[in-house]
Amino acid sequence: MTRAVFLGTGMAVPDRVVTNDDLASLMDTSDEWIRTRTGISERRWVREGETGVSLALRASRAALEMAALAPADIDAIVYATSTPDHFAPGGGVYLQDQLGTGPVPALDVRAQCSGFIYALSVADAWIRAGSYRRILVVGSEVQSTGMDLSTEGRHTAVIFADGAGAAVLGPTDDDSRGIIGFDIHSEGAQAEHLWVDAPGSMYHPRISAKHIEEGRHFLQMDGKEVFRHAVVRMPESVRAVLAARGLTPADIGLLIPHQANLRISEMVQKSLGLSQDQVYNNIMRYGNTTSATIPIALDECVRSGRVKQGDLLVFTAFGSGFTWGSALVRW
Ligand SMILES: CC(C)(COP(=O)(O)OP(=O)(O)OC[C@H]1O[C@@H](n2cnc3c(N)ncnc32)[C@H](O)[C@@H]1OP(=O)(O)O)[C@@H](O)C(=O)NCCC(=O)NCCS
Repeated sequence: MTRAVFLGTGMAVPDRVVTNDDLASLMDTSDEWIRTRTGISERRWVREGETGVSLALRASRAALEMAALAPADIDAIVYATSTPDHFAPGGGVYLQDQLGTGPVPALDVRAQCSGFIYALSVADAWIRAGSYRRILVVGSEVQSTGMDLSTEGRHTAVIFADGAGAAVLGPTDDDSRGIIGFDIHSEGAQAEHLWVDAPGSMYHPRISAKHIEEGRHFLQMDGKEVFRHAVVRMPESVRAVLAARGLTPADIGLLIPHQANLRISEMVQKSLGLSQDQVYNNIMRYGNTTSATIPIALDECVRSGRVKQGDLLVFTAFGSGFTWGSALVRW
């Protein structure tokens, strides 16, 4: 039976480092508050001219290089983002053009922080079905341009950041490795705990001066509700994806949790009874880059040798939607 394997990974973050002290000059916050509540020390923000697609392009080129493949070898693109460069079309088609693949399908996935896991599940299904052979899966976000940088928006602005990660997947007949399975969910009743209200096609017009005056174009978050659900849903989903294959958390070689908040990752680790060396976190350096956190972390783990062939990996995410889910992979 055909399975999907990772052929290469890549990442890209802007070179503009924004420290907690930099944020304290924009709003009433402090390095101490941010570190204590979120674990974040610094994050990256784009400069004007750098976009979600340009970050995705850099990450994709790095992934292709590791896979020793050319853009023309890519048969499809699945592009996860909650912050496209434009309202429409999505980012995938721009990446297709700038990377210089053939006129291959480019599908945007809008599942926010769970976007990379949802996107992987689509690519995995396409490869298993024989629809496409080599698929580029991307998570790319520019959150910094959608933050309320006044004190009113501080509980959100200190968390979210910019970055991109990419992976090239391909088929194998070796059933001892590759993507094993998924557990994915959504609960739309919770959508407005973490959302961007406008622009929206339900408004006439989609965006107005009043929306902007009211800050409805900013990412809005009820942090307590998000926290409360995230620390239950991620462990629940990790257990489910393992249990479906007769495995338990003790079998995990490395868990890469979505980098929402270090305190959330720590609670997920504790709830699953995992040791420190079974979990990878890098939110201290990059903040929460939404759909990009998992592929960025994966690329760091692959390049540093933290992930080795044969390791059992679990990716898990939770975010706006609410959406959440996990992926199980034998590297
Ligand atoms: C955002 C989060 C850190 C806030 O922590 P919290 O303990 O819930 O804090 P609250 O929002 O209740 O605020 C506590 C106090 O800190 C203040 N505060 C909020 N943000 C602050 C900041 N950046 N700097 C300083 N003070 C801040 C609040 O105004 C409040 O002050 P008050 O008690 O005088 O009213 C926390 O809710 C969280 O991490 N949630 C999950 C967020 C997340 O992971 N999102 C991504 C999901 S994909």
